[in-house]
Amino acid sequence: MKRFSKAFIIVVSLSVGIVLMSFVIDNEVSTNKNFAIKDSVTSVKAFHEVYKVLLSPRCMNCHPSGDIPLQGDDSHAHAMLPKRGVDGKGVYAMKCGNCHQSANTEGSGRPPGAPNWHLPPANMKMVFQGKSEHDLAKQIANPKTNGNKNLKQLIAHAEDGLVKWGWEPGEGRTLPPLTYDEFKKAWNTWLENGAYAPSGK
Ligand code: HEC
Ligand code: HEC
Repeated sequence: MKRFSKAFIIVVSLSVGIVLMSFVIDNEVSTNKNFAIKDSVTSVKAFHEVYKVLLSPRCMNCHPSGDIPLQGDDSHAHAMLPKRGVDGKGVYAMKCGNCHQSANTEGSGRPPGAPNWHLPPANMKMVFQGKSEHDLAKQIANPKTNGNKNLKQLIAHAEDGLVKWGWEPGEGRTLPPLTYDEFKKAWNTWLENGAYAPSGK
């Protein structure tokens, strides 16, 4: 009889323990889930803003789907068709640096400029033109397609000279649809909350 009640107590306390433990685990998982859902909503919402800038002519003109840069607010093919080349800096007599200096040349229709003006290289073209929000978010978040950038380097990329040029593009060129500060805020919010891609294709 004594033995039986001892075993009974052990069984009861074990099952109480299991129930308590599963409650704790369950609670923890569901709390994390709530966080994840909140972060992905914040992140995706910020990327909607980022995407508007990426596909605006000041950025997209250097991120074309083909191997020739684009020009103007209507993103037409660059006059005289300079080619990307292996390193993105042009080929033969049509090197970008022959015409594009480290600062804008004054006057309308004159070459814009910033240090090291060039396209992404042939082995990692970083195309924006024609990309859906989903595909572009995936591309930029992935070091295999973003120029080997980790999270920290991606955050720092908002300070890149070619990115900043977008807000000082020279005479006759419209600005991106967000201010630079708004862009940087959306960019950081997207990345710091998990760099989620909007759903869809
Ligand atoms: C022969 C001179 C020349 C060469 C070489 C050249 N460009 Fe240009 N580029 C220009 C001129 C001039 C403009 C300005 C056209 C205008 O505003 O109407 C321009 C404009 C641009 C624009 C448009 C900017 C905008 O947002 O509208 C981009 C992008 C560009 N060039 C990229 C390149 C790249 C990349 C290379 C090298 C692969 C290159 N260019 C080679 C002369 C040149
Ligand atoms: C003169 C050409 C040029 C202009 C203008 C330009 N970029 Fe780029 N961009 C590049 C090059 C070259 C690289 C690759 C070099 C690197 O990774 O640092 C790049 C890389 C990037 C990347 C990483 C690409 C990826 O697919 O992961 C982002 C993001 C980016 N640019 C954003 C912008 C934004 C935003 C603007 C406009 C405000 C802009 N760029 C304007 C040339 C340009």
